[in-house]
Amino acid sequence: MPRMAPTRPCLALARWVLLAAVAARLAGADDPYRYFTWIVTYGPINPLGTTQQGILINGQFPGPRIDCVTNDNLIVNVVNNLDEPFLITWNGIKQRKNSWQDGVAGTNCPIPPGANYTYKFQAKDQIGTFTYFPSVALHRAAGGFGALNVYQRPAIPVPYPAPAGDFTLLVGDWYLAGHDQLRQTLDSGAPLPFPDALLINGMPSATLVGDQGRTYLLRVSNVGMKTSINFRIQGHALKLAEVEGTHPVQNVYDSLDVHVGQSVAFLVTLDQPPMDYAVVASTRFNPADTSPLTAVGTLHYSSATSLAPGPLPAGPPEESEWSMNQARSFRWNLTASAARPNPQGSFHYGTIQTSRTLVLASSAAVVAGQRRYAVNGVSFVVPDTPLKLLDNYNIANVIEWDSVPERPDGGAPRPGTPVVRLNLHEFVEVVFQNTENEMQSWHLDGYDFWVVGYGDNGQWTENERLNYNLVDAQARHTVQVYPNGWSAILVSLDNQGMWNLRSANWDRQYLGQQLYLRVWTAEQSFSNEYSIPTNAILCGRAAGLPH
Ligand SMILES: *[C@@H]1O[C@H](CO)[C@@H](O)[C@H](O)[C@H]1NC(C)=O
Ligand SMILES: *[C@@H]1O[C@H](CO)[C@@H](O)[C@H](O)[C@H]1NC(C)=O
Repeated sequence: MPRMAPTRPCLALARWVLLAAVAARLAGADDPYRYFTWIVTYGPINPLGTTQQGILINGQFPGPRIDCVTNDNLIVNVVNNLDEPFLITWNGIKQRKNSWQDGVAGTNCPIPPGANYTYKFQAKDQIGTFTYFPSVALHRAAGGFGALNVYQRPAIPVPYPAPAGDFTLLVGDWYLAGHDQLRQTLDSGAPLPFPDALLINGMPSATLVGDQGRTYLLRVSNVGMKTSINFRIQGHALKLAEVEGTHPVQNVYDSLDVHVGQSVAFLVTLDQPPMDYAVVASTRFNPADTSPLTAVGTLHYSSATSLAPGPLPAGPPEESEWSMNQARSFRWNLTASAARPNPQGSFHYGTIQTSRTLVLASSAAVVAGQRRYAVNGVSFVVPDTPLKLLDNYNIANVIEWDSVPERPDGGAPRPGTPVVRLNLHEFVEVVFQNTENEMQSWHLDGYDFWVVGYGDNGQWTENERLNYNLVDAQARHTVQVYPNGWSAILVSLDNQGMWNLRSANWDRQYLGQQLYLRVWTAEQSFSNEYSIPTNAILCGRAAGLPH
């Protein structure tokens, strides 16, 4: 069992290699640069004791952790040594003015086998716990994911005392079947099977070592394919400290639900007698005929010689109600500072008039004879050329502008490549409507949004607005949507680009539960959006065009 020492702030600092800034097209040319070369290969891994083919980055599964500081320029040269096209997306990194680097099929040509692409982006004005993962071809089921932690600049205080160290935990469901086999399953019209295990940092277990009396920050991200998890530590309270790059009110919890694609960070004080305590992650909202999967690790006090007595801490009730109440208790701390020296709540989102409402209902659907998922009747089909390139070069007849109805209209399900056109600085309400008995989560690239309401009462209606939290709703980039329920968000469209709005449940995303938002203004300016990178890979209908 691997023993994890916490990342001590001083050790993290030593790794921060600051290289001289080169002349750059990036806005933050004065900010430090960090260079990475990532070689992506297949390789044997055996998280469950049986050798299977994993996707490794520089030989590692999970991939290398990036530790960086707000506004750092990250230059990541990804060399694809797989036999299939490959892309990485940076989950929660906002890519300000720079959807060119988002690394999804609608913005970037996949890196061909044997080729490389150098991502160049900034963690602009962000602090927090993020991840990266492969975005095409279900590669994520085989690895290629990792952690991306953004630390605050020295001048910016975070609203909690410096922890004695921090632990980064990537938790996710796992299959013994390879990504190609899972892909065949989905392509053949069958659902993904129930996963075989839950992993923590690529292993069935993990040991966290800390000193009695000290407080540590634990960063937990759900990097799985489709299953929500609950996380808890025997005998210890979890004090919420960060949710996907924003600072919440620091409530104390016995356990925390983390849905697919989400990240939370919480403080744990080692205030118990020095022993070994169970760290438990278990699956939530399990299908009726299954029992939860559990990964059990250890919180080891450095002076401990015995195991804490008693049973493993039990998970919360399975009902949506408990989880939804916890979600509603997540509140934005209006006075905490953000990545810039101003309070997070200085922007009063609740007083802004929305310019439009999108009600997006997702459903399983048979589309052109195949079992897929659709959003308001349109099931996304990846086009032969990324939408961002089609738009950049004015290549007509592929993008279906505004083809998704703004509300479900009962139209027959069909395949399509929908892009919703929105204006820069619009303020938009989006309601995610879950019409199935399965937990879902939705993610928006390029943005944080305020989650103003959750329901498990079937169809959303306009009356729900009366109960929205318009004061201190939690801001985040990925929101869960309860079975046969809805979640409502407000988003301020201040980031020009082509942005993926997708199910974070990877089977649903793969089978079409996604679309793109094009946030745009007629006034073209580099202060709104960068131009196409000189190293952009040009494929499909854009192949051979000038950069
Ligand atoms: C591929 O890597 C080389 C260096 O090994 C680099 O010069 C080149 O710019 C990279 N290609 C892309 C498209 O980023
Ligand atoms: C909110 O942040 C402020 C400023 O850092 C801090 O003093 C306060 O304790 C936080 N409030 C809560 C309720 O967590």
